[in-house]
Order: sequence, then C-alpha cells, then structure tokens
Amino acid sequence: MLPHPTLADHYATPEAKPEFVNRLFDKGAKHYDGIVDWGFLRSGARYRRWTQKRHGLRPGQHVLDVACGTGLVALAAAQILGTAENITCLDPSEGMLAIARTKLHAHFVQGRAESLPFPDNSFDFLTMGYALRHVTSLEETFGEYRRVLKPGGRVLILEVTKPAGRFSGFLFRLYFGRVYPWLTQLFTRSHDARDMMRYYWETMDACVPPATVLNALRAAGFSAVKRESLLGLFSEYTAVKA
Ligand SMILES: C[S@@+](CC[C@H](N)C(=O)[O-])C[C@H]1O[C@@H](n2cnc3c(N)ncnc32)[C@H](O)[C@@H]1O
Repeated sequence: MLPHPTLADHYATPEAKPEFVNRLFDKGAKHYDGIVDWGFLRSGARYRRWTQKRHGLRPGQHVLDVACGTGLVALAAAQILGTAENITCLDPSEGMLAIARTKLHAHFVQGRAESLPFPDNSFDFLTMGYALRHVTSLEETFGEYRRVLKPGGRVLILEVTKPAGRFSGFLFRLYFGRVYPWLTQLFTRSHDARDMMRYYWETMDACVPPATVLNALRAAGFSAVKRESLLGLFSEYTAVKA
C-alpha cells in the first residue's frame, strides 16, 4: 500500500516517485535545517530527543535511523546514547547524507526503507522521522523494519498528521499549505526549498490516516502497536518486535 496516492502534478507513475523525491531532497538539502528550525519554532531538536527518550532509547543500544536526512533524529539519539558509534544512518539522498556526515561520527549508508541493506536482527531501536510519506510501500517498509530489528526491538516513527477538527484542520492547511512555503521562499530565495516545502504539505494532506499506518504495522507482525499524538498534530507510532 502507498502512503498517499500518486501526485500527478509531480510524477506520472508510482515507479517515478523515488527519483522525483530524491531530486527534491538533493536540491533542497542545504536549506533543510534552517527551514525546519524556524518552521517548528526551534522545537525540533528538543522534541526529537524527548520523544526517543520517552519511547525507550537507552545507552548501549544499536540504532538505525531510516531517512536520516541531515541527521536531526540521529543527533538527538547520540545525545541520549552518549556516542554516535552505535548509530547507523540511512537515506537515499546523497545531498542530505553529505550534510549529516559533517555533524556526527555515525555509520552512513545510502539506501531506501523498502530494502534495507542489513542482516536480520541487527538493531535494538529503529527510528524514522518525517519520511513515512516518501516510501513506495508500507508493507515492504514495515516488513524490513521487523526483519532488521532484534527480538524485543522497537520502532519509533515520527510524523506530522493533519488534525481531525475543522478549525485545527483549517489552521494546519493555512500554515503548511500557504504560510510555510511562502516564508520558505522569502527567507531562502530558493525555488528548490519552496518546492520541497510545498511537496511536504501535499504529501501530508494526501497521507493515509493513522489507523491505516497502525494496521500496516500490525499486519507486518509487530506487537504493542500504538500511536501517541501531541496536539493532534505530531504522531508518534511505536511498535515492538515480539
Ligand atoms: C523530511 S526529511 C526527514 C529528515 C530527518 N529524518 C528529520 O527528522 O528531519 C525526509 C527524508 O526522507 C528521505 N527519503 C525519501 N524517500 C525515502 C525512502 N524510500 N527510504 C528512506 N528515506 C527516504 C529523504 O531523502 C529525506 O532525507
């Protein structure tokens, strides 16, 4: 199952999506950290650390950060672990990886969530921050997550989710659909950065509901599947490989 239908204004077929997404992040990479810093009111680093700690990340664990981007989730994990040596960061975009490599001494691998280049039972904790919308199959992705986690290992997926209420939905649409891309263009003077944030919005708008994500995690064989949400907006999906 796709996390959202084909967005025909951007790419013609589901097969064309990975190349489109890769180009988008390669081109927007140098702007990414700045945009998410002010766009989320400078809360990103603290939130990424707080949520990983709350969901059980502990020193000594081996971590896989899928869709690491510029390394924001992995950096927060390294603060909790006290080192980055047990962290593996994976992303298909060389542009995003190049920035992440300058920030921490983790292991970096170019690859995709749907086909992880790691042996079975390799990691204690697997994270994915704000990237589930970009995969081509929830089944393949979650099947891979379960395969590479050790028994008892935990997955934590962070996402921004369109709120259910009418007024909160209106504010969400106004901010992410209009204000955020417009401010991005204003501050960065980059069409690439603006396009990245427009696409960010369109994928959030078109994304499958949380119940579909939870069902897909259960179908992949995970147990203790849960979603916690902050302000109805920030989703934290967790699951355990029994
Ligand atoms: C919005 S960024 C998130 C970066 C980082 N996790 C964070 O919390 O800021 C989305 C990332 O997902 C990556 N990505 C896109 N398709 C992917 C896939 N199929 N598998 C893994 N990562 C993917 C992109 O290259 C990009 O770096």
